[in-house]
Amino acid sequence: MKSWGAVRAVCRPTRLSNPVTTSRFRSTRSIATAPRRFTLNTGASIPAIGFGTFQDPEAQEDAVSRALRAGLRLIDTAQVYHVEKQVGRGFRASGVPREDVFLGTKLWCNNYHPDDVEAALDRSLRDLDTPYVDLLMMHYPVTFRRGTDEFPRDARGKMLLGETTYLDTWRAMETLVAKGKVRAIGVSNFCKSELETLMRESSTVPAVHQMEVHPYLQQRSFNDWLLAQGIHVVQFSPLGNMNDFYRATGWSKEVSHMTRVIDQPALRALAAKYGKSVVQVVLAWGVGAGRSVIPKSTVDWQIRENVEADFALEPADVEIIEALDMQARFNDPSLDYQYRLYSDLEGTEGARDGKTH
Ligand SMILES: NC(=O)c1ccc[n+]([C@@H]2O[C@H](COP(=O)([O-])OP(=O)(O)OC[C@H]3O[C@@H](n4cnc5c(N)ncnc54)[C@H](OP(=O)(O)O)[C@@H]3O)[C@@H](O)[C@H]2O)c1
Repeated sequence: MKSWGAVRAVCRPTRLSNPVTTSRFRSTRSIATAPRRFTLNTGASIPAIGFGTFQDPEAQEDAVSRALRAGLRLIDTAQVYHVEKQVGRGFRASGVPREDVFLGTKLWCNNYHPDDVEAALDRSLRDLDTPYVDLLMMHYPVTFRRGTDEFPRDARGKMLLGETTYLDTWRAMETLVAKGKVRAIGVSNFCKSELETLMRESSTVPAVHQMEVHPYLQQRSFNDWLLAQGIHVVQFSPLGNMNDFYRATGWSKEVSHMTRVIDQPALRALAAKYGKSVVQVVLAWGVGAGRSVIPKSTVDWQIRENVEADFALEPADVEIIEALDMQARFNDPSLDYQYRLYSDLEGTEGARDGKTH
């Protein structure tokens, strides 16, 4: 981990020799190139295309195993997904060596008190069956009341917040790197001013910011700024509102019901032009911009299709995708969490009150 000031724009693409087999893939691309990777500000390399594990806990063991066997080498999980045991078992079943995989997890907001951080990580390591994670992130900048309740609420259902801040949590996370339990630390769902505070008040620049990015929420100036700070962006929900969660959750916004990316006409035309699926075009757009993408799927052909989503789009086609930006943020539990998330970013209008669970 380098100190603030020592890193600038270090997220550069690299290619390693680790080809994946493609014979049964739907796409027509014959693979001659190795999967693209980027270099973090720690010097570690992170794959461009990864695998998300939110939802479907009963299917995740098999899905993780299949994703690794299909060639994916970046697994994203989180304590609050309650799938870390399944991820650990799936990883073991895949037979892929630990050192070949970039494994990241996230602390949940009730574990943010500095005295709770290491014990929470230890539970993740136990469940994931690994001595270390490649990346530990704070899931959100908001701190909930410490304790075993992941969503601590008062009698009226209002979320109870903790007394420490994300800065206290971050300092506790920094110590875990020195102990070798964590290779890099990062954040998720932070806004620009929160990241500036973190960098001003601590000695570690986050290696990664995991945040919502897709054609309907492109956050171009924020992405440019993160790149300039040497903070690598991992796009969550890279397929936008494909995830039904955004239509079903208590704080679902009207905007979540907009046309799904796979039905978007301009994207469909691009998919036809390249002989790819719309999903592959959308993932290729993110990877081409220097970001990692972590689509979630439990469906075999979809997993294998997503592996094959790193190809170059012509600049004019990138412009077509850029024109689809609607600043449509689907993941915004601000009102439920009693904390204004994304305060200096795009797409916060239309946040709805309602419980996550
Ligand atoms: N940090 C955070 O706060 C945060 C928030 C949200 C997500 N995440 C992470 O990001 C990951 C991905 O985000 P997400 O799960 O919200 O959404 P997503 O990956 O953008 O979309 C998932 C949906 O797309 C479908 N899909 C995947 N590949 C497809 C393909 N090739 N063709 C057609 N459909 C396809 C999946 O289908 P099936 O369900 O049928 O497989 C699922 O319904 C999560 O799993 C999690 O690891 C992080």
